[in-house]
Amino acid sequence: MIEIEGLQKTFSAGDNPTAALKDVSLSIKQGEIFGIIGRSGAGKSTLVRCINLLERPSAGRISVNGREISSLSGAALREARREIGMIFQHFNLLSSRTVFDNVAFPLELAGRSKAEIAREVTPLLDLVGLTDKRDRYPSELSGGQKQRVGIARALASKPAVLLCDEATSALDPETTKSILALLRDINRKLGLTIVLITHEMPVIKEICDRVAVLDQGSVVEQGTVFEIFTAPQAEITRRFVSDVIDRPLPSMLIERLQATPLTQGNVVLRIVFTGPTANSPIISEVVQRYGVLLNILQGNVEYIQGAPYGNIVVEAVGQPQAVQEVIDHIRDNNLRVEVLGHVADAHRAVA
Ligand SMILES: Nc1ncnc2c1ncn2[C@@H]1O[C@H](COP(=O)(O)OP(=O)(O)O)[C@@H](O)[C@H]1O
Ligand SMILES: [Mg+2]
Repeated sequence: MIEIEGLQKTFSAGDNPTAALKDVSLSIKQGEIFGIIGRSGAGKSTLVRCINLLERPSAGRISVNGREISSLSGAALREARREIGMIFQHFNLLSSRTVFDNVAFPLELAGRSKAEIAREVTPLLDLVGLTDKRDRYPSELSGGQKQRVGIARALASKPAVLLCDEATSALDPETTKSILALLRDINRKLGLTIVLITHEMPVIKEICDRVAVLDQGSVVEQGTVFEIFTAPQAEITRRFVSDVIDRPLPSMLIERLQATPLTQGNVVLRIVFTGPTANSPIISEVVQRYGVLLNILQGNVEYIQGAPYGNIVVEAVGQPQAVQEVIDHIRDNNLRVEVLGHVADAHRAVA
């Protein structure tokens, strides 16, 4: 659907050229919601501006819907742009126009008749849930309602792709959820391909199918959202992911935790369950088989793309040999297990 190959964009302002995009290659499929995450300055906006032809690439190729767009101009350029809808962080509505007239604007520009426009705009307002606000002005709307107008306006040209640049970054968390749900709904109902740019990992987790991580103008990692969340490779990806799903260890535990084994001590383990194995009764299994007690110190199960991702921290109480067998058994079942450290056995210490 969107093929980007060796894309580079260098801004040459004065003596210091900025390489905003160094070498970006991506392949976005028809009908998916593709996320692009990166810190501020990573090159995200430059990338979308290249896709919607507001910027010319310095090198590389971009094709949308089978058409190479990086070299178009004139009427062909305008035609190609119509295929690409866009929504923005600050909505970019026309303040002197009503909701209806904002959504109608691209159709007026395309020279459509009043009757045609009414026929197209009415169902769009219904789709985004703004039928009762059709005659209101942007200043009378909440942020979420303004973004709904932005979405309806973008859809008016019947684009093949919707580009969203930080479209929920100005919204509170609850409104963000409702806008993301609307985008998901539109993606399913219309089969619309969505490219979603954000610096917020929860946004990616909420609705994206696949994601690419952009850092300093390069794609450092990409994969399904489940893969990226459960097995992040690049350091920056790990940081993005851990902001969302890793709970910090309780401070009481951190204070007790030591790096080396203690003679009268227990091992603290983190066990990570992914996908279907998250439901398997592994804990009760090892307790029965090896006679090791597992005290749960912390536990959390997230659902990513509908699949469970569990993360528990346990204190394993038992003979060192038996504890090692437990670790091996868990690994043999393809779960991740990591020794976080050692703690003195509270009960033995008291006794
Ligand atoms: N028109 C421009 N002229 C010069 N430098 C620019 C221009 N637009 C973006 N940049 C630079 O390119 C880099 C990437 O910017 P941008 O794409 O806006 O990042 P992001 O959207 O990820 O925050 C930044 O270093 C920015 O300063
Ligand atoms: Mg940006």
